[in-house]
Amino acid sequence: MKNEKTDLKVPEHVGIIMDGNGRWAKKRGLPRPIGHTYGAQTFRNITRYISKQGVKFLTLYAFSTENWKRPLEEVNAIMKIFRQYLVDALTDFRDDDIKVVFIGDKSAFDPKLRELIDETERISEKRQGMQLNIAMNYGGRDEILYAVKKLCKRVKGNGLSPDDITGQNIADELYTAGQPDPDLIIRTGGEHRLSNFMLFQAAYSEFYSTDVLWPDFKPEDFDKAVLEFNKRSRRFGGV
Ligand code: IPE
Ligand code: IPE
Ligand code: MG
Repeated sequence: MKNEKTDLKVPEHVGIIMDGNGRWAKKRGLPRPIGHTYGAQTFRNITRYISKQGVKFLTLYAFSTENWKRPLEEVNAIMKIFRQYLVDALTDFRDDDIKVVFIGDKSAFDPKLRELIDETERISEKRQGMQLNIAMNYGGRDEILYAVKKLCKRVKGNGLSPDDITGQNIADELYTAGQPDPDLIIRTGGEHRLSNFMLFQAAYSEFYSTDVLWPDFKPEDFDKAVLEFNKRSRRFGGV
């Protein structure tokens, strides 16, 4: 799809690895959790902006399966921000018609948080605008592992033959089943790695890294990424 104003191609699915909250706080002599509070604000503003650009799916990487390794104090602070965010999200994004879905292993969260997650999904379920996937306790390897287990169960239970398993069968068992693969993956904070984000789906995603730290990420920074995306030649292995 094209943006009529800019005449640029709009990626259908964008993934963002929201990195750099801790460094943002440290630069200001503040404790790391404050960086996450400001990061949550960027999360809201950028989501609204992106939904207005014609993007159909946005996946935001908020907490990885490896992030539990952090000091308990920081993990607790992130969960608290997340909880507050969910309370706001019950009404947030309504005007923008954004559908909210959580991807990741929800079983690690306490029952109250899980209830809130379910309610947020339920409330926004019928919305017709952009779909926002919030990746929380998400790991690409974990996701593939779950898919493999589900396929094994099908092999055992209903006669699916191992020889008949296709790549599509795997894709259909991922959290993102039915969604297009991300066209563009943006990472803030300057690192050039996926850190376990969408390992299966990212096979042909265009990767864009910026030194801007997540709390400083602005709509103009997103526009820059889209401009760069438009300069890429996507060949998918062809010529
Ligand atoms: C990203 O920011 C947020 C999470 C991973 C939860 P970081 O907290 O990783 O910030 P840096 O990379 O340490 O600056
Ligand atoms: C990636 O950031 C995870 C999220 C943004 C949620 P990390 O800060 O955890 O990644 P590494 O440790 O630098 O690879
Ligand atoms: Mg980081």
